[in-house]
Amino acid sequence: MNKHRTSVAGAVSSSSPRSGVTVCGWVRTRRDSRTFSFLEINDGSCLANLQCVIDEGTEAWSCLEGVNTGASVAVTGDLVPSPGKGQAWELRAASMKVYGLADPLSYPLQKKRHSDEFLRTIAHLRPRTNKYGAVFRIRSEAALAVHDYFRGLDFRYVHAPILTGSDCEGAGEMFRVTTLPPGEPLPPDGGDPFERDFFGKQASLTVSGQLEAEALATGLGRVYTFGPTFRAEHSYTPRHAAEFWMVEPEAAFFDLEDDMDLAEGLVMHTVSHVLEHCADDLGLFDRFVSPGLVDGLRRMTEKGCARIPYREAVDLLRSSGKTFEYPVSFGTDLQTEHERFLAEEYFKSPVCVYDYPKDIKAFYMRMNDDGETVAAVDLLVPRIGELIGGSQREERLDVLERRIAGLGQDPASYWWYLDLRRFGTVPHAGFGMGFERMIMMLTGVSNIRDVLPFPRTTGSLEF
Ligand code: 4AD
Ligand code: MG
Repeated sequence: MNKHRTSVAGAVSSSSPRSGVTVCGWVRTRRDSRTFSFLEINDGSCLANLQCVIDEGTEAWSCLEGVNTGASVAVTGDLVPSPGKGQAWELRAASMKVYGLADPLSYPLQKKRHSDEFLRTIAHLRPRTNKYGAVFRIRSEAALAVHDYFRGLDFRYVHAPILTGSDCEGAGEMFRVTTLPPGEPLPPDGGDPFERDFFGKQASLTVSGQLEAEALATGLGRVYTFGPTFRAEHSYTPRHAAEFWMVEPEAAFFDLEDDMDLAEGLVMHTVSHVLEHCADDLGLFDRFVSPGLVDGLRRMTEKGCARIPYREAVDLLRSSGKTFEYPVSFGTDLQTEHERFLAEEYFKSPVCVYDYPKDIKAFYMRMNDDGETVAAVDLLVPRIGELIGGSQREERLDVLERRIAGLGQDPASYWWYLDLRRFGTVPHAGFGMGFERMIMMLTGVSNIRDVLPFPRTTGSLEF
């Protein structure tokens, strides 16, 4: 790497003048006067642009032909205190190399505000805008915060497979993976059509790495996965994507309360970390996307999470005097409108709702003594609703076998998962946090398509 080269972030936060530095980037704006030109360049390293001043008569001046918004350049010169308003430093250019021009008649990102809908159609160019640059920098920093949090608690980062034969959630929202040619005739004897497929059985993209994480947790104690997850949900909500990232910790010797502590800690750590490290980028969202965002995030870290059993949450919703589109009673799943009411209006903070009726939750959740509810928890947050879903797991072999059979499934197909209960079973718990929903909460961005670099949703697979 060229030791005289610095990023825009390095230049704008410089502590002293420097001569002979090179800064590369894309031109955001160009303003000309008779004897000099201003180029604002940005390289994605931070929100700020670097102002480059190009005086008549310099070598750089002779390279200005055709350099406009979108052009890629390397500017070399002296970094000096800026006499102008709005920036501490500017680059007095001596020379400039132009890598590529961008035709102003066809370059779609001219200097004006574009709608999110339009920018989705040019997802390959939108990382060059202030807003999407900020989203993806915050995404990167939040991912670091996740690793940092778990490392501090002795959790190991493990990788669960993406190709799988099991539907962890039992919701049947799997994308099938096959190498069979389309239109392959079914076996004449009515046998298993997937016998001739690549794996000799039906394969899909994972909806959750939880079951494998449980196996790893019974060896390593505390683990977490953080990877892509796939759901063929035909939901057009702004909170669902077909491909998203999930953080899934799993810990041996944890019960539901430990699980809630862990979930609350993860949320608060990630928010605090991003508040500390992404102040400029958050400022953009606070000004243009969601006024009050930063104060709200700060208050969240001070207030912590409320906790309430599902049964009480239902009573509270029923006596709230509010009319909901979907009526709520014990046994119904909470809808986003209910979740948002609890977090946003009632508690005015994140809230863990726990002990859900067993019939609306997955087979692996631990049965409570009442025989009616399971040790599940959903962590709900303002504006979004469900951010995290988790539970203590059923560690009792006989109870788990009965539960699987009761759902009309064959316990034999869960042989390895049941082995974890056959040999040295332990109480254990975990959860899944939708990473994009965390980014939505951090930025105030209201559509999941705008926090994923290349979103995949029903009917949409461009790029
Ligand atoms: O509540 P879910 O379905 O839980 C599980 O998958 C468990 N196996 C996790 C575990 O205990 N290890 O999903 C977890 C979280 C949700 O709370 C939500 O934030 C997110 O994943 N999520 C989605 N995010 C974006 N698009 C979708 N289609 C999502 N489905 C779930
Ligand atoms: Mg859930």
